[in-house]
Amino acid sequence: MVKRLVPIIILFLVSCSVPDRKAVSPKDVIIIPKVATLGMDFGTFDPTESTTIYYSPEFYGEAQIFHDQFQNLTGLDLNLKEYDNGPVAQNSITLAKDSAPHAEFGDELYVLSVQSHAIVINSFTGIGVFHGAQSLLQLIPTNDENYNILNVWIEDYPHFSHRGLLLDCCRHFWSIEVVKKYIDLLAYYKMNVLHWHLTEDQGWRIEIKKYPKLTEIGAWRTEEDGSRYGGFYTQAEIKEVVAYAEARHIAVIPEIELPGHSLAALASYPHLACTDGPFEVTPEWGVFKDVYCAGSDSTFEFLEDVLTEVMELFPSKYIHIGGDESPKFRWKNCAKCQKRISEEGLHDEHELQSYFIKRMETFLAQNGRKLIGWDEILEGGLAEGATVQSWRGMQGGMDAATSGNYAIMSPTSHCYLDYGLELIDLEKIYAFDPIPTELDKESAMRIIGGECNMWTEHVPDEANLDSKVFPRMIGLAEVLWSYRENPDYTEFSQRLEKHYPRLEKWGVNYGFEKIPIGFNTEIVESSIKVLVNKAEPNMVALVDYGDGKSVEWNSDSTFTTSQNLTFKASVNGREFPMEFPLDLAVHKGLGIDPSINAEYSSSYSAGGIGGLTDGILATLDLRDGRWQGFQLKESLEVVIDLGKTQSISSCSANFYQYNNAWIFAPTKVEYFISADGANYQSIGYAEPNSDPKEKGQFIETLALQFEEKMEARLVKMRVYSLGPCPVWHDAAGSDSWIFVDEFVIE
Ligand code: ACM
Ligand code: ZN
Repeated sequence: MVKRLVPIIILFLVSCSVPDRKAVSPKDVIIIPKVATLGMDFGTFDPTESTTIYYSPEFYGEAQIFHDQFQNLTGLDLNLKEYDNGPVAQNSITLAKDSAPHAEFGDELYVLSVQSHAIVINSFTGIGVFHGAQSLLQLIPTNDENYNILNVWIEDYPHFSHRGLLLDCCRHFWSIEVVKKYIDLLAYYKMNVLHWHLTEDQGWRIEIKKYPKLTEIGAWRTEEDGSRYGGFYTQAEIKEVVAYAEARHIAVIPEIELPGHSLAALASYPHLACTDGPFEVTPEWGVFKDVYCAGSDSTFEFLEDVLTEVMELFPSKYIHIGGDESPKFRWKNCAKCQKRISEEGLHDEHELQSYFIKRMETFLAQNGRKLIGWDEILEGGLAEGATVQSWRGMQGGMDAATSGNYAIMSPTSHCYLDYGLELIDLEKIYAFDPIPTELDKESAMRIIGGECNMWTEHVPDEANLDSKVFPRMIGLAEVLWSYRENPDYTEFSQRLEKHYPRLEKWGVNYGFEKIPIGFNTEIVESSIKVLVNKAEPNMVALVDYGDGKSVEWNSDSTFTTSQNLTFKASVNGREFPMEFPLDLAVHKGLGIDPSINAEYSSSYSAGGIGGLTDGILATLDLRDGRWQGFQLKESLEVVIDLGKTQSISSCSANFYQYNNAWIFAPTKVEYFISADGANYQSIGYAEPNSDPKEKGQFIETLALQFEEKMEARLVKMRVYSLGPCPVWHDAAGSDSWIFVDEFVIE
């Protein structure tokens, strides 16, 4: 990591005598990520068919790629010639090697000088020259027939050395053409790591010569409709991708998951598990309790063989071994694993996981490689040379950094591109700071960067993938490269707007920056007024009243309704992929903030304390922002004080169930009333109709209808959770979730 200079903008006014050249401003320089130092001059470099690309011999590969990219953009097929270190020629673009490195700025530093007579990109390294070429390409207008390039002087280098995207090729499989497109786009935005997620419960995607069943069996799953789904990369294809990436200065880090997320391997070679199986490559999403047996030597033999072939294919300094979400249930009940625990003097299964990871770390180190693992590898003791990728918040990365290890930040709060815009929009990513303020300076230096994680459970095709990754990945690219103390989102989004035509040229079906509509409720005389806000200035909505009537709404003002309706929005003429149903519930507790005895998750807050009484019902989309999610140690109690004694006839609340995501309906909800808030009287309870084992996503309404009206000032619900995930569940013993929405009192 390099210490950044304060960005400065230098305006060279050397050509004032040329009246027909328009003055340019830094606003005209639309480079993402934002450059460190920018100087400007009057005039432009105007490429022609006779413009020549010169390259220092070492930069032949970079020059060729630049030539092709330039041609794709402009149609001009420029000459390519070797550069002899002499004066730069007129009408040339020269990729020149610096005579010495610039240690204080790191090896990615480049200087780009565009003058009317010639362009020069200087760097000591191929990666620096490559970055300079990407900046130059971004300076070529996309809407100008002349492709005239503004005269600028740029010195630029990144803040963080690790700038990555995780691509999950297991839940859904991506062709090497798609993977290469993503490598191009990473390079274009000066990211430098493709974290290639290659093995999973749902599919093994990398050919391993010694274990052919991994791809004969492990690469294929039977979907719920009986169809076969799968695919894998041959070793030849992997070499092709790695070489393609290397030419574009992208390090490809393979992830081979262990000890968990390994069902596809166990289905192929059942002897690697704690039990006899059989196992199947699962078509379901989630966490599964069958993992590699840590007591069996053949597990380690297998994994070392696999990693040996992996290291032959991938020259990367790092190998990612996963390490996340590995339930301990099988190990607890396996004689071999228990024998290992006692022979190795380990205290528990967490230390067994640590033993497992340390063995892999030692093996990789013996082969000159470094291990990366998800933050679970901290549990039971961190391997000495391991780098931690922090995903369950920032704490894992902080713990690693303070204990002298390196860390990569990719917390679910900011970096999960599988999450919808309602949880992580572009502005949120752009506000991401990989360095927690609590961290001391020396430890902060061990945060080497960040990644955005593109898990693909719910991403079936390329158009979908593009719309999840873009434009959000570009936001993280700028954070990691430019890293400024006061990021200016408005300025960034103005630059980004001008990049959309470029993304179109790359064939990217980019998505949206944020949810275009916001809703608030206002309670007026016991009825709900929904205030609809335009979050995107160019948004137009179609409001569907569900009774055959629909009207267009594009007003800047708020919209008031008390009727159930659905919005369909479009921004700049592009239809937003999601509808916005508004199902309203008018009830006595409307607008009253309840008191709650537990803390709700910051990711599932339903907008805060008033989320359970705002009159808007949560939907089947568990990330619609309306569910309040809890991981409970004891029962949940929610109390609504009606302010004065009232007659009530029923109480109810909605609960979500999706056991794959560890979300269960309560076992029971008991309702109470009180006149004074001190003494509560139980008035009955409601139980769910469904079984906790029931598959799929659904909503349970747990309602209590009274035979006669009752008088109450305070109403309480006590929600009994199932406790930890039950023994039959794949995450047996892990904390389960309760998701609740509107607490309705009528
Ligand atoms: C993860 O998201 N399980 C690393
Ligand atoms: Zn075992």
